[in-house]
This record gives sequence, C-alpha cells and structure tokens, in this order.
Amino acid sequence: MDSIHAIRQARIDAMVAFIQLKPSDTVADIGSGNGYNIVRLSKYYPGVKYHVEDIDSTSCNRKNFQKAISIYNPAIALSDFTFTYGTTTSTHLPKQYFTKVLMIAVVHEFDDKALMFADIKSILKAGGDIYIEEPFVLKPTAKKDKGCNNPYLTEEQFKDIITANGLTIAEEKNTANSGAQYRKIFRCRIGRESVVVNRESAIVNKLIDK
Ligand SMILES: C[S@@+](CC[C@H](N)C(=O)[O-])C[C@H]1O[C@@H](n2cnc3c(N)ncnc32)[C@H](O)[C@@H]1O
Repeated sequence: MDSIHAIRQARIDAMVAFIQLKPSDTVADIGSGNGYNIVRLSKYYPGVKYHVEDIDSTSCNRKNFQKAISIYNPAIALSDFTFTYGTTTSTHLPKQYFTKVLMIAVVHEFDDKALMFADIKSILKAGGDIYIEEPFVLKPTAKKDKGCNNPYLTEEQFKDIITANGLTIAEEKNTANSGAQYRKIFRCRIGRESVVVNRESAIVNKLIDK
C-alpha cells in the first residue's frame, strides 16, 4: 500500500517539477474527470485558478471535486474551479484565452482527435503551452482502456497524433513506469519547432549581415 502511495506521489512530484503554473496564468484542464489529478496538482500552485472541462458531468462535478479537495488540498476553494461541459468535438471554452492547457490521461480518449486538437489550439493564447501527460503501452493494442472506448496509445502513435495536429513537442519527461505501461509528460506548442528555429536563425543571420 505504502509503495503504491509512493509511486503515485513520485508521479505527482515529476509533474509538478515539469509544469510551471503561476497565479497570473489562465489555466484549462481538459478531461478533468472527478478532479483526482488536477486537485492533487493544485496543492503545489497556491493562488492558481482552474477552468476544468469534461464531457461527463457524472464524474466532473462540484460534489466529486469537493471530495477530492477535502482529501488532497483543503487549502483550495471549490470556487477556484470553473466548470465547463464540452462535446466530443469541442471544449466550449473561450477562444485565445488560456496561457496553459493541461490534459492528463485524456488524448487516447478523444473520439475525434482532429477536431479536439483544433479546438484546443483555438483556446490557447499566442505563446501558450499545452501540457499533456499520457499513459503508454509498449506495443500497439486493440484492447480498450477500462474507463473508455479507446485503447491506450504507444508513444510513437501519440507523437504521430501530435505532429499531425500541428503541434510540436518542446520538452518531455517520464512520470511513471510500471513495466508494460509507462507515463510521460510533454510540453507542446503550436507549430513546428524547425520553423521557429529557422526563423530565429534567419533573424540572427540578418543581424550578423549588418
Ligand atoms: C482517464 S480520465 C482522466 C481524468 C483526469 N484527467 C485525471 O487524470 O484524473 C479521462 C477523462 O477524459 C474525458 N473525455 C473523454 N473525451 C473527452 C473530450 N472529447 N473532451 C473532454 N473530455 C473528454 C472523460 O470523460 C474522462 O473524464
């Protein structure tokens, strides 16, 4: 029991070290579920408020969040979480509004990945970051995740989805490892890094030319 607790805490610690949230950030958590992870994370970012979003109001609701708050972070108020309900194709969140968008164990669950990623890019402010933590299997599988209709992804399948949807991975780190399955967290940005690098080197070259 203790070791499971330690493994879960080590995963949260790895995520906290990776995700930088400040009270000045506007934060959305897509597919928040019953709040288990976002409430645990909130303990480490005092003063931050969250827009939590899901398609399932039977899991993502004030009662379940209050329960998670009383267990994992009694210092945060329920009113620090704003609830929004989306669909399988749209978050229904405001456009160009968020400086940080989080997705924890959600990407494999998206039934329409193209429309969800298009929507998620549209709610991000220019220069904002998308943090994705996702469980991975070692080999492609058709076996469905217990909690949803879709199978877990391999890391390669995930990276193909990210690239196909116009995002680039700026940073990545392991958060947990349990043999047949492991988890990683990614910081993603809109666009392709090589374009940004080329643009920067073009500017540098221009400056050198002068
Ligand atoms: C495995 S749970 C993860 C919950 C939460 N992020 C956590 O880590 O505790 C996945 C959640 O994604 C939600 N979900 C699935 N498809 C979605 C979509 N298109 N938009 C928003 N949420 C979605 C599900 O309803 C479910 O609550």
